Amino acid sequence: MKNFSVGISGIGSYVPDKVVTNDDLSKMVDTSHEWIVTRTGIEERRIAYQDMATSDLSTSAALNALEDANLKPEEIDLIIVATVTSDYALPSTACIVQKNIGAVKAAAFDLNAGCTGFVYAMITGANFIKAGIYKKVLVIGGETLSRIVNWRDRNTCVLFGDGAGACVLEACEEGYGIISSELGSDGDNYEFLIQPGGGSKEPARIESIAKDLHYIQMDGREVFKFAVRAMENSSIRALELANLDLEDLDFLVPHQANIRIIDSARKKLKLPEEKVYVNLNKYGNMSSASIPVALDEAIKKGKIKKGDNVLLVAFGAGLTWGSLVLRWNKEDEDV
Ligand code: UT7
Repeated sequence: MKNFSVGISGIGSYVPDKVVTNDDLSKMVDTSHEWIVTRTGIEERRIAYQDMATSDLSTSAALNALEDANLKPEEIDLIIVATVTSDYALPSTACIVQKNIGAVKAAAFDLNAGCTGFVYAMITGANFIKAGIYKKVLVIGGETLSRIVNWRDRNTCVLFGDGAGACVLEACEEGYGIISSELGSDGDNYEFLIQPGGGSKEPARIESIAKDLHYIQMDGREVFKFAVRAMENSSIRALELANLDLEDLDFLVPHQANIRIIDSARKKLKLPEEKVYVNLNKYGNMSSASIPVALDEAIKKGKIKKGDNVLLVAFGAGLTWGSLVLRWNKEDEDV
C-alpha cells in the first residue's frame, strides 16, 4: 500500500462477571442507589476476583481482539497497555500480556495518561505504523481500579469498576481509520486526581499505608468542571482537524465517567442520544478500559457502519484529555 491510513483491524473486550450493585455499596458506605444514579448514572460495576490482575483482564481482551483481526499473537510487533493499575510497578503489564498470549516478536510497554490512556495509546501505536517502524500494534486499555479504591470513601468508591478492551491497529485504505487526533495535558492541576502513595514520592511504608495514601484521592467538583470543558473543546478541535462539521459526526464513544459529563458533550456536539454510546450504568468508570469496551459493544451491536465518522474523547488524571476521529474502516460482515 503506497498511501495508507491506520485503522482498527480487530477489537475485543473482557469484563469480570462479578457484579457489585449500588445497593451492595450502600451496605459498605453512607450512600444510596438513588444518589449514585442521579449524580453519576452508574447502577452497577464489575469487580475482578482476588486472583485476577490487570494483565489477566487485558489478556482476555487481547485474545478477543486478535481473533477478530484474524491474527496470531506471534504476528504482533508492539503491545501497548494503557493503565493506571499495572500489575506491578515493574515490569510493565504489557510484558506480562506478551508472555500470556505468546507474542514472542513484540516490543512491549505500558502508558499512563490517566483515563485518557487508551486515546494516547492509540495515537502512539498508530504513529509507529505511520512511521514505517511496525505493521501490527496491539493497543489495550486494562484496569483493576477496585485495587486502588478506598472502599471506605463514598466520594470515590461508588464511581469505578474493572475491565479491559483491546484493538489491533494496522494499515488501512487511505481516508479511513484515524483521520485526526488531539491530545493535551494540564499538569498544574495534577493533585485533583491522584494516588499519592506507592511511588517514589511516598513509597509504601507503614506510615503511608496508615494514612490511606495508596488509594485514589479526588476533588470531584474540580475534575467535573475540567471534564466538561475538556470533552467539549477537545471534541471540537478533533473535528476541525478532520475537516468535519458537527453534522458529519455519526457516532460518539466518550469516556464513561459520569452521565452528566457525557450529556454536556453530547449537547455541545448537537447529537441525539442514540448516537452516543453509554454503558457506564453497567460498568462505572473503568478508566483506560472505558472507551475500548464501549467501542467494542457499539460495534457488536451494529451501531457503527463502514464510513461512519466516530469520535472517541476522554479526560483523566494529569489532568489530561484526548480525542480522535475514526472513519470506520471495516465492513459490517467483517465484524
Ligand atoms: O475519569 C475521571 C474520574 N473522575 C471523575 O469523572 C469525577 C468527576 N466528578 C463527578 O463525577 C462528580 O463531581 C461526583 C459524582 C464525584 C460528585 O457529584 P457532585 O454532584 O459533584 O457532588 P458533590 O461532590 O458536590 O457532593 C454533594 C454532596 C456532598 O455532601 P455535602 O457536602 O453537600 O453535605 C458529598 O459529601 O454529596 C455527598 N456525597 C455523597 N452522598 C451520597 C459524595 N459522594 C456521595 C455518595 N453518596 N457516594
